[in-house]
Amino acid sequence: MKTFFILGRNPELSRAEVNAFLDARGREYSEVLFEENFLVLETGEGEKFDVQEFGGVMKLGEILFEGSEEGFEQFVDDKDLVPSDKFSYALFGNVDTEILKDKFKREKRKAMLKHGRKRIKFQGGENVELPNADFYFFLHEFDGKIYFGVIDQSYDAFKVKERDMGKPVRREHLAISPRLAKILINLSRAKRGELMLDPFCGVGGILQEALLKNIKVYGIDHDKSAIRDADVNLKWLAENYDLDVKWKLKNIDSRKAPDLQFGAIATETPLGKILRKKPSSGEAKKIIQNFEAFIVPILTRLKKCKKPSARIAITFPVVGGIRVDSAKIADRASLKLRGKPISEFREDQFISRDIVIFS
Ligand SMILES: C[S@@+](CC[C@H](N)C(=O)[O-])C[C@H]1O[C@@H](n2cnc3c(N)ncnc32)[C@H](O)[C@@H]1O
Repeated sequence: MKTFFILGRNPELSRAEVNAFLDARGREYSEVLFEENFLVLETGEGEKFDVQEFGGVMKLGEILFEGSEEGFEQFVDDKDLVPSDKFSYALFGNVDTEILKDKFKREKRKAMLKHGRKRIKFQGGENVELPNADFYFFLHEFDGKIYFGVIDQSYDAFKVKERDMGKPVRREHLAISPRLAKILINLSRAKRGELMLDPFCGVGGILQEALLKNIKVYGIDHDKSAIRDADVNLKWLAENYDLDVKWKLKNIDSRKAPDLQFGAIATETPLGKILRKKPSSGEAKKIIQNFEAFIVPILTRLKKCKKPSARIAITFPVVGGIRVDSAKIADRASLKLRGKPISEFREDQFISRDIVIFS
């Protein structure tokens, strides 16, 4: 069977997230297409995904048709796609809407095609519309073939935002978004029941998302007030979200992380002080050099605290276009660099991030 994924603002990162999720669970799959923010995977029969497991997937569904344009016309003719006579619908993909429009017209249905006022901005700067409709379809041509599916799951951004805004202690300037937290957790390959470490846990943004995935967590921060606040946040989470997993918080330096043979490590490093103006290239180099000197002893310690195969999904700062040399860091900390770092940035920020995976 084939599943399509409509990916969020950083498609390459989201694709890596979906792959890591499947790899972590030992599932067989192969990539059918990856274009713009569309990903189609072939998986074993009956493979079911839950869109809320991911940070970077907006919508998903099963591919119901694959083949030529004529074949597709025939397919839609025979199929009752929408169980309603009056509805709105929207389309994702690169294929013209005419075939569907004609079908609904022939069937004398009141079908309104929505384009959407909300837009999302991609990493590369391009915009796409995010329509709001009763039904969504995926209709995309790739390599001479048409792929079609009905979207049956959408990411509940409202619920996630409500949770993020609702927690008692927020540190907006430092805290990671729930979206990126989930992506890092999946990239670390942490699974339900395993013990995951966040060695720079702050007020617990990543820990919180991991607990909701039934992953046991251990959070470290050298800032006493951060640990106190993380504790308040996690207790709030447990009270409001019916948690059934344990956590532990420790106010120590990450260089002293305990050897608990963690099954996964997911973390957001301190990106340094907030820059009010664009740094000179000399300043940027200095910031990166300092970061490299800071992170090597920590990673060296983390390697000893984790299971040999466990992954570390970590953010590295990118300042004024200057990045950390991840291969050099891997070498110094005796870790293996897994794949190429993937950048995650916003145009309005001087400091952005590379997402790096080690094992
Ligand atoms: C970017 S923040 C992490 C934010 C976190 N994801 C959250 O949701 O709040 C980085 C954290 O690393 C902590 N930190 C910096 N150096 C550290 C060290 N050597 N050991 C432990 N924690 C450290 C800081 O106190 C800060 O809270």
